[in-house]
Parts: sequence; structure tokens; C-alpha cells
Amino acid sequence: MRTLIVYQSYFGNTRLIASSLARHFKELGEVVLYDIERHQNGFDFTMFDLILIGSPTRYTSISAPMKRFLQSPKVKRFSDLPVVAFDTRYGPQHKHSVFMRFLIQMFGYGVTSLEKRLDRLSIPRLLDGEGFSVEAAEGPLSEHTEKRVGAFVARIVVAMQETAKTAHDAGDALDEKDSEAETRVV
Ligand SMILES: Cc1cc2nc3c(=O)[nH]c(=O)nc-3n(C[C@H](O)[C@H](O)[C@H](O)COP(=O)(O)O)c2cc1C
Repeated sequence: MRTLIVYQSYFGNTRLIASSLARHFKELGEVVLYDIERHQNGFDFTMFDLILIGSPTRYTSISAPMKRFLQSPKVKRFSDLPVVAFDTRYGPQHKHSVFMRFLIQMFGYGVTSLEKRLDRLSIPRLLDGEGFSVEAAEGPLSEHTEKRVGAFVARIVVAMQETAKTAHDAGDALDEKDSEAETRVV
């Protein structure tokens, strides 16, 4: 399996999640980590079986560079690949203002925004994304993050297997139809 992990990070926490995901997916095949702020023109997004895309949560949305990236024509080249979103965000210990709490209720987190944008671009999502909390804006990541990344990877792998099985069964059904058609011709 070839996995592409696209991310942006200001303070390094989203990068740490991306790297941890990469370590897991390396056990299943090739992994490419793609930092959107390192200009990689001409990159071929179509060579992968799965794309993970992650951003820090910023004002209940995603980061400005990630917004720009998702507006760029290269994203259209994700084609029909299944995409999974992730974000980093403040944890439950963070004291939000009443206004921020209202905004979070209205708009959610980075994943909410990422998924809305993917839907608008008609990019298929494999499963619901995941958020990973930080103890403060610059980090560190909350306790047990590594365990949560492992659980997230397990969910993704199961979803990939189910998708592959559905495609395989559909292929079998088509083969059966073909052979019935052939039988009728003979
Ligand atoms: C200006 C600013 C706005 C933020 N807005 C939110 C927010 O709306 N909701 C939230 O959960 N976390 C918010 N955070 C926390 C960030 O999500 C956190 O700093 C980020 O996950 C760190 O990721 P990074 O190290 O990859 O940049 C904000 C942080 C900053 C500095």
C-alpha cells in the first residue's frame, strides 16, 4: 500500500502526528510525508492508494496555508483516492472564552473544516477524521496520543480492507455476469 501524508504545522505538533502515522503505515508499504510549505511542484498525487491530510485547528477552522493548498489546482489531482483528515487542537483542559465555545459548537475543529472542503471538491472520504489534542498552543501533544494514533491507524486499515473487499466482490459479480453472457452466446 502506498500512503501519502499531507500536512502543515506551525509548532511541530501536527508534524509529530504525521510522522507517527508514517511510522505505522511504513509497516504496510511505501509512505511519503508531504509538507505543503516545502514547495514540491510537479508532485504526482495519483500514485497513492490512500491520502491522509492534517492541519492544526485555527479559529475553529484549518490553517491559512492549508486553506490555500486546498484551493490550489493540484488538489484536484487527488482524483478518486480515499482521503482521511486529521487535526491537532486544544484539549479539554483548555479554558476557551464563552464566545470561542459558541464558535466551536457552530464550526467544530480543523477536521470539520477539512472534511467540508473535501466534500465540496467531491474528494471521497474513507472514514471520519480524528483530532489530536495539545496541552497548550505550542504543545506538547496530550498524554496517550501515540495510543490514539495507533487506534486511528487500525480504523483506517479496516476501512481500506472493507473497501478492497467491496471492490473485489463487485469484480467477482461482474466476472459472473460476463461468464453468464458468454454461456448464452455459446
Ligand atoms: C491563533 C491560534 C488559534 C487557535 N485556534 C484554535 C481553535 O479554534 N480551536 C482549537 O481547538 N485549537 C486552536 N488553537 C490551538 C492549535 O490548534 C494548536 O496550537 C495546534 O494544534 C498546534 O499545532 P502545530 O504545532 O502543528 O502548529 C489555536 C492556536 C493558535 C495559536
